[in-house]
Amino acid sequence: MDGTPTTEDPIAIFEAWMAEAAKTEPNDANAVCLATATPDGVPSARMVLLKGVDARGFVFYTNLESRKGAELAANPNAALCFHWKTLARSVRVEGAVERVTDAEADAYYASRARTSRLGAWASKQSRPLESRFALEKAVAEYGLKYAVGEIPRPPHWSGFRVLPRRIELWRDMPFRLHERRVFHREGTGWRIETLYP
Ligand SMILES: Cc1cc2nc3c(=O)[nH]c(=O)nc-3n(C[C@H](O)[C@H](O)[C@H](O)COP(=O)(O)O)c2cc1C
Repeated sequence: MDGTPTTEDPIAIFEAWMAEAAKTEPNDANAVCLATATPDGVPSARMVLLKGVDARGFVFYTNLESRKGAELAANPNAALCFHWKTLARSVRVEGAVERVTDAEADAYYASRARTSRLGAWASKQSRPLESRFALEKAVAEYGLKYAVGEIPRPPHWSGFRVLPRRIELWRDMPFRLHERRVFHREGTGWRIETLYP
């Protein structure tokens, strides 16, 4: 078993760090590198935006038919890595993923700008694009289709929640002797250990 039991809550600390980063980062403090892997362990990584966090985990939204969507369907495990340059801090999260509920995805989709909602219909994310014109034409066509009334959430667009089993809070310290505090999930609580930098 790693570490010793703690009453500290790494998600509460993450939220406090994110609130600080939102004030200091020039843009997209919620940008995070998401790593997925094929069932035989070949990794891939890309940026996404964190759109929710609570005691259950870390939520992002995407096209389910994208490369990341296909990898998560076949291997529902992911890692996240945040880095805030202005704070010289980083957070790493690892865990299994689950799909958010349809109600959660509907609520977030409805909050997005109209053009973003149309883009979710028009983009065959991660598949070859024949021309920029083809994409703009698809956006225009969906704009006409949904000119009146609500734009429904596409069935291929939803969110994932990373259920953290390990959270590392990293802080820059003098002489590269950085602080690394790792929280391991244990039941409903956490165990903590510190690592050499
Ligand atoms: C700052 C930033 C934020 C992004 N946020 C998202 C996002 O929330 N969801 C998403 O699907 N793609 C997002 N993207 C695009 C992805 O990085 C990526 O290009 C796309 O999702 C396709 O990835 P895939 O082919 O590995 O599935 C973002 C890119 C950047 C640079």
